[in-house]
Amino acid sequence: MKEKSEFLQFALDIAKQAGEIQLSYFGNIESISTKSTKIDLLTNADIKSENLLISKIRQKYPTHSIISEESNNTIKDSEYTWIIDPLDGTTNFAHNLPIFAVSIALQKANSTICGVVYNPAADKCFYAQAKQGAYLNDKKIHPSNSDSLSDCLLATGFPYLHDKKYDLSFSIFKDFYDNTRGLRRLGAAALDLCFVAMGRFDGFYEYNLNAWDICAGSLIAQEAGCEVTDWDGNNLPYDGSRILCSNKKIHSSMIKILTKQEYSIFFK
Ligand code: IPD
Ligand code: CA
Ligand code: CA
Repeated sequence: MKEKSEFLQFALDIAKQAGEIQLSYFGNIESISTKSTKIDLLTNADIKSENLLISKIRQKYPTHSIISEESNNTIKDSEYTWIIDPLDGTTNFAHNLPIFAVSIALQKANSTICGVVYNPAADKCFYAQAKQGAYLNDKKIHPSNSDSLSDCLLATGFPYLHDKKYDLSFSIFKDFYDNTRGLRRLGAAALDLCFVAMGRFDGFYEYNLNAWDICAGSLIAQEAGCEVTDWDGNNLPYDGSRILCSNKKIHSSMIKILTKQEYSIFFK
């Protein structure tokens, strides 16, 4: 990267600080409560991480808007909006699985200009700046070259709400399982996207995600050379309702499965 912008440097600094907070609670959670359903967890680390991020942003950029998972949005008359997941992978975190991250994106006029996803347990920091490539711990990253689903390993996830779509999502899971080397459900969407960006996974799809889950990871994936769209190929990388990210080469094969007639309920 030619030069990190002031915004990216700031996002990297606060992501590292939030990561330290996460690690200080990892294996040592004081309290777990639930949110939308009894499997939608909230720990004190989610809250402490968010408090830190929001206070740092307010201090440095008092006029900017902030959208963050655990708080009411602060919408100001600014073209800049910070979109934050203070702890992506809370269920993993609560079970002492080191697959969790902090995700921070900055949008200018609705377009993401920088993104950071930091997995403190492995000290892996993914970041990108628009039109300047994507990096993992300061090394440029690229997606895989696989062009046939049968050579691919994919990732997905499932929402906390177990409705009709949820049942059908297992048919999609089987469909992909039948046609690939396998499918993983790691439990942290921001990292799933980064793992496609660095070529560990060849593709990722999920539905019912939110902007804070995918904004930073989508920019990192796109900047690495991935394609990020919705399930029918529309260019909506910052809408998490039906996200699809791939190494580009298998994008149309993944769309072919996701748009099958029997899955049309996802398109309503
Ligand atoms: C969750 C994770 C998970 C995905 C869920 C998300 P959270 O975020 O990204 O992988 O399947 O839908 O809500 O709740 O741990 O921040
Ligand atoms: Ca999340
Ligand atoms: Ca979260």
